[in-house]
Formats: sequence, C-alpha cells, structure tokens
Amino acid sequence: MEYHLKLSSTMLEGAKYAFLPGDPQRARKIATFFDPQAKELAINREFNSWLGYLNGVPILTTSTGIGGPSTAIVIEELARVGIDTFIRLGTSGAIQEHIKVHDLIITTGSVRLDGTSRHYAPIEYPAVAHHEVTQVLVQAAKKMNVPYHVGLTTSSDSFYPGQQRPPFGGYIIKTYQDRLQEWQKLHILNYEMESGALLTLGNVFGLRCGCVTCVLVNRVSEQKDLLPQETPTPGEERLIKIGVEAMSQLIKADPGT
Ligand code: URA
Repeated sequence: MEYHLKLSSTMLEGAKYAFLPGDPQRARKIATFFDPQAKELAINREFNSWLGYLNGVPILTTSTGIGGPSTAIVIEELARVGIDTFIRLGTSGAIQEHIKVHDLIITTGSVRLDGTSRHYAPIEYPAVAHHEVTQVLVQAAKKMNVPYHVGLTTSSDSFYPGQQRPPFGGYIIKTYQDRLQEWQKLHILNYEMESGALLTLGNVFGLRCGCVTCVLVNRVSEQKDLLPQETPTPGEERLIKIGVEAMSQLIKADPGT
C-alpha cells in the first residue's frame, strides 16, 4: 500500500495510464466523464484517486494537489504501482496577451522555478514533455477544434511572488521583480505550479509525461474565469474532453492495448 496515495497495484486492475488534475474535485469530474461507472479508490489529504475504463482499458485519475512536493509524491508512488504514462490536466495563468481565458496550453517544456525537481536532477537538466504525449494532445485539440497554444511554461513554487503577484505586505524580493516581463520576452506562454516536477521526474524515471492546462486568467489583459466548482467550468470541460481524446489516441497507438 503506497504511503500517501493509499493505493496498491491490485486496486489498479492493471492500469498503466493516469490523468493528473491538480484539484481533487477534478479527479471525479474526469473519471466520470469517460466512465459513468468509475469508482473512487482512495482519498487521503489532497490525493483523490478514481479508476475508470476507457475503451476497455483501465485508467487511473489521481489529483496531485498544488505544487512540486505533492506532485512528486504522486509520480513516485504511481510509478511503484505500475503507471508509466501521465497526462496532467491542470489550470494556468497566461502571460502572453493573445491567449484567451478557456484556451488550452500544451506544455512542451518548463522553466524549473520550483524546488522539488532540483532534488531529482541538476538545474541544467531539461523539464521536457514526452513527444508522444505532446503529439496526441495537439492532435486531440485540432480534432476537437479547440483553441490551443503549444510551447513553454514557467513552473513556479509560489502562486504569489514567483508569479509576480505582490505577497502579503506587498514586497516582492529582487529575484522575482520584473520576471513576468522577462518570461514574456523569452516566449513563455504561462505560469503554473506542477509541470516542473512532473516533466523532470518523468525524464529521470523514464516515464511518459505530458501537460495540458486551461487558462484561468490572462495576466496582461486581466481577463479571468471562475475558479473551478462542483460542475466543470467551460475551460475544464474543454480540458477534460481533449485529455480523454488524447489518452484514447495513445492507447490506440500502443502495442498490446
Ligand atoms: N495556476 C497558477 O499557478 N497560476 C495562475 O495564474 C492560474 C492557475
């Protein structure tokens, strides 16, 4: 039995694929979207796990909670029970003006502005998505005719100063002052908080990991969405639809499934 997730390989019924939302409530929304008979396997702290079947193949959905430390726990413990393919279905804040709220961003690689990934690989090591996962995400977004952008993400360990939002008291330390403008100039598309750990560990462990997020806020236009709620928001609906389509394409392409 895995320490935090409270899952064992027997409970997974042979699942090798997983969706990783950040939000525990989104785990249920994803699993019941592709399988109305999906069942909740475990809940502990921020980790909520569901098992459902997509085209006859068992798929796990486990929430990571927010940030690198809890995301790394999920990758570690799921790898131990046999998961080798991960698609993060998260939310992010766009920093390029042309990106709209509810658009999807498919991350090809992440700036490692987190601490957790440094425990696994030196900072020179790239946090890049697995090409097969990126490819199916792009194909799915095209097929479903959803607005999407493909590129780089800054993965920060803090929601406030690391993403250039004034913390309580208002002072942003020098390291993070004016960084948003710098990331914009370097053609980064968005900020989020989990892909740095996910994509670094994916490569270090030899797993297939990819990441798509729906945009909750544009930091330039200040356009905002509702925060996720009981029922999926329009952005979440798109995100889940594209994630499920991408996963079914991966399954179809994999030998022996
Ligand atoms: N998640 C983040 O980390 N930042 C945002 O602005 C929105 C979602």
